[in-house]
Amino acid sequence: MTSTTTRAQSRHWSRHATKYDELFLDPFEPGVENPILQEIERLPDAGSKVVIDLGCGTGPLLPTLLSRFKEVIAVDFAPAMIDASKARLGAEADRVRFFVRPMDQLDEFEGAVDVSVAINSIVMPDVRDIDRSLAAIRRTLRPGGVFFGVVPAIDAIQYQTMLLLDRELARGTAPAEADRLASQQAEHHLYDFAFGRFAFQGLRQKFWQSFELTYRLRKAGFSSVRLDKVLYPWDSNLPLGDEFRDQPRSWDWAFEARP
Ligand SMILES: C[S@@+](CC[C@H](N)C(=O)[O-])C[C@H]1O[C@@H](n2cnc3c(N)ncnc32)[C@H](O)[C@@H]1O
Repeated sequence: MTSTTTRAQSRHWSRHATKYDELFLDPFEPGVENPILQEIERLPDAGSKVVIDLGCGTGPLLPTLLSRFKEVIAVDFAPAMIDASKARLGAEADRVRFFVRPMDQLDEFEGAVDVSVAINSIVMPDVRDIDRSLAAIRRTLRPGGVFFGVVPAIDAIQYQTMLLLDRELARGTAPAEADRLASQQAEHHLYDFAFGRFAFQGLRQKFWQSFELTYRLRKAGFSSVRLDKVLYPWDSNLPLGDEFRDQPRSWDWAFEARP
């Protein structure tokens, strides 16, 4: 049974399919250090393995997966995202099995997948959806299977806020005004920092702390969880990004989880 929230969110994601690249940080862009890509490149015997891309979006990972794996399955609950993936792949799209559905509905792939990948798609605003989806993903995996993912980091927004605040204070701005400016520059009105949520143009997304990621993956039955960071270059995709090039980079959380 698909919930009202899930249906509404799938419509909003569909609406964002055409302008996706303008609005979202892209963990596959040149200049981004993404450990998941290296892990996927390094997997042994990929040519005999089945991979599933969960929340494939406009399909930036699909060409890489097609070039390495025996079989590629792609799931997204937003029909326009699947259309965009197919358009990206052209004739190669026939080699991917596409499914328009929420990723808590994976029963037919139970025990049939070697590698599951979810890049910035475990973002459901209701954590019960997240728990159901993670449990469904774990059940897709064959013995020896692995789940790789990236999720947006809420602590990275707090990190950027710290740098923005310090920049204002160093310019002599009074503390209350420095708070106001940092909050405006980092768009705090879009975030709920206590619960880790982000709302933007109808989309409602989960943003993660690392401890919650470990907690929810373990709760879903993954006994081995390893975290890492996707590191973004300081550029105009981040608030006043060009000014912080001498600072450690901002991040999203990357993980490798095994049952
Ligand atoms: C931020 S985009 C990331 C897309 C792609 N993985 C990438 O890295 O470019 C999130 C994608 O996840 C999909 N998505 C979000 N929640 C989902 C759910 N519960 N079931 C299936 N797809 C979902 C959205 O439709 C969207 O295409």
